[in-house]
Formats: sequence, C-alpha cells, structure tokens
Amino acid sequence: MVNNDKVVIITGISSGFGLATARIFRDKGYRVYGFARKPFTEEGLFTTSLDITNYKRVDEYIKEVYEKEKRIDYLINSAGFGITGSIENTDIDLIKKQFEVNYFGTVNITKAVIPYMRANNFGRIAIISSVAAVFPIPFQAFYSSHKAALNSFGEALNIEVKPFGIKVTNFIPGDAKTNFDKNRINTKVNEPAYKDRIEKSLTKMRKDELKGMSKEYVAKVIYKNITKKRPPLRKTIGKSYKFLVFLERLFPRKFINFVLDKMYGFSKTK
Ligand SMILES: NC(=O)c1ccc[n+]([C@@H]2O[C@H](COP(=O)([O-])OP(=O)(O)OC[C@H]3O[C@@H](n4cnc5c(N)ncnc54)[C@H](OP(=O)(O)O)[C@@H]3O)[C@@H](O)[C@H]2O)c1
Repeated sequence: MVNNDKVVIITGISSGFGLATARIFRDKGYRVYGFARKPFTEEGLFTTSLDITNYKRVDEYIKEVYEKEKRIDYLINSAGFGITGSIENTDIDLIKKQFEVNYFGTVNITKAVIPYMRANNFGRIAIISSVAAVFPIPFQAFYSSHKAALNSFGEALNIEVKPFGIKVTNFIPGDAKTNFDKNRINTKVNEPAYKDRIEKSLTKMRKDELKGMSKEYVAKVIYKNITKKRPPLRKTIGKSYKFLVFLERLFPRKFINFVLDKMYGFSKTK
C-alpha cells in the first residue's frame, strides 16, 4: 500500500513507542514528521528538535507542516516521562513539570492540529495513556493521575470532533521495554517513612518493564488500530493487561486497591 500523500505527526519521535510507530508509518509510505528535545535524525523521517512545553513554537510548527503539506492526517502523542516518589515528598515543581509535558503538551498540540484536520474533514489522534490510569500505582500517583486525565480528555474530545471526521483513540499499554525507565525521575529525598515500600515498588516496576512487551509490538497495535476506518475509542495493549482491565470492570474499587497493595508486596512493610 502506498500512502505517500498522507501526513503523520509524532511527538517523542526519537525513542520508544514514538520511534517504533514512526518507522511503521514511514515503511508504509506515509510522510512522517515529529520532534523530541534532543537532536535526532533517521532516514525517511522529517525530524526537528522541539520541546513540547514550548507551546507557542509547537503551534507554529504545526502550522508550518500544514502549509507545506496541505494536510495533517494523524497525530500520535507519545512524548512523555515518568516520575516516582511518595505524594508527600514529591516537589510541587516536579509534579507541575510532569503535567506540563505529558498532559498540557498533549492537549496543546492536539488543539493545534484540530483546525487543520477539520479543514480536510479527516483526522486520527492517538493518545498514549497507560494501564497506570486504570490502576493508580502507589508512588506513581502523578503519573497515574495525568494519564487518567488524558483518558477523559481523549474521550470527551472524541465526541466533540466526531462531526468533522476526526476520531480519537486512547491507547492503554502495559509495561514495555523502552528508554522510559532510564528517563524516569525518581524523587531523591530521604524518605524513612516510605523507604522500603518505594524501593519495593521501584524494583517491581523495573522488573515488569524489563520483561515487558517490545516497543515494536506496541507500535504495531497502534498503527493497526489508528488506521482502521472505525478506530476504537480505547485500546489496551498486552494480553495480560487486557485481562486485568476487563477484571477491573467487574470488581469493586476496594478490592482492586487490595490487590494492588498485595501486588507491590506492601502488606508486610512500612
Ligand atoms: N514504556 C512503558 O512501559 C510505557 C507504558 C505505558 C505508557 N507509556 C507511555 O508511552 C509514551 C512514550 O514513552 P516511551 O516508553 O516510548 O519512553 P521513551 O523511550 O523515554 O521516549 C520518550 C520520548 O519522548 C520525548 N520527550 C520527552 N520529553 C519531551 C519534551 N518535553 N518535549 C518533546 N519530547 C519529549 C523523548 O525525547 P527527548 O528526551 O529527546 O525529548 C523521547 O523521544 C509516554 O507517554 C509514556 O508515558 C510507556
């Protein structure tokens, strides 16, 4: 299939899900644009260095791509990073930074593409959320809560823009092997009250990510679903995670919280 007139924009194009998804679109013949903060180049990808929190510059960038291509068909929102730490001891500026990049960055670029998608009466927007939105993870409260906010944003947006041929999909991946762990900011304060539990939760998180899905697998699911004529509103990625998300609908929240507590091995430690 040759799609050499269709235009895709990918945030966080230099690594992980963003890069793996960019490669699939490129290999299928789409014209792929994208950015990350650090300079990054790869054959067949139109890349630039841009911080997603430079909202004004992002708006200009979208305008420039549209003026050049006369269309923007797909937006894949993948830029993001993680933070860990207790709610009590996480600095408010770091919490704001997480929301500025992962939530407001996504909201801003999504707002920017809508008028152009509307002009062509076609558009597909992917939001990379996480199972952490469905199962709020202890010591990752701000990561979980910004992803939950993104899920609500995506679902409301889907209804707003439906008359204009634009559809939005919230992708809910489980753990996967990317540079995410390396780029995660772990709150480095002495936390005697939480120390053991933070360590346990970090160890479990790392273990899950290391034996997690490949970024190529996640990208394949993103590509397959976002290019459907009728993309799903929400797509969980990873067999065991699909099962967990299904169970979440059946059990009371108190039970889910109990299971999360056990899963992270907290019951015997402070
Ligand atoms: N890996 C997982 O297990 C997992 C699971 C569920 C959901 N997710 C979500 O998937 C998305 C992609 O994560 P990943 O695992 O692919 O991580 P990754 O390998 O660390 O890639 C993150 C990408 O985002 C870019 N980025 C970070 N901050 C940015 C900023 N301020 N402006 C522009 N670009 C920025 C990074 O490049 P620069 O550093 O050069 O800017 C990089 O290209 C994230 O939203 C993450 O929350 C990941």
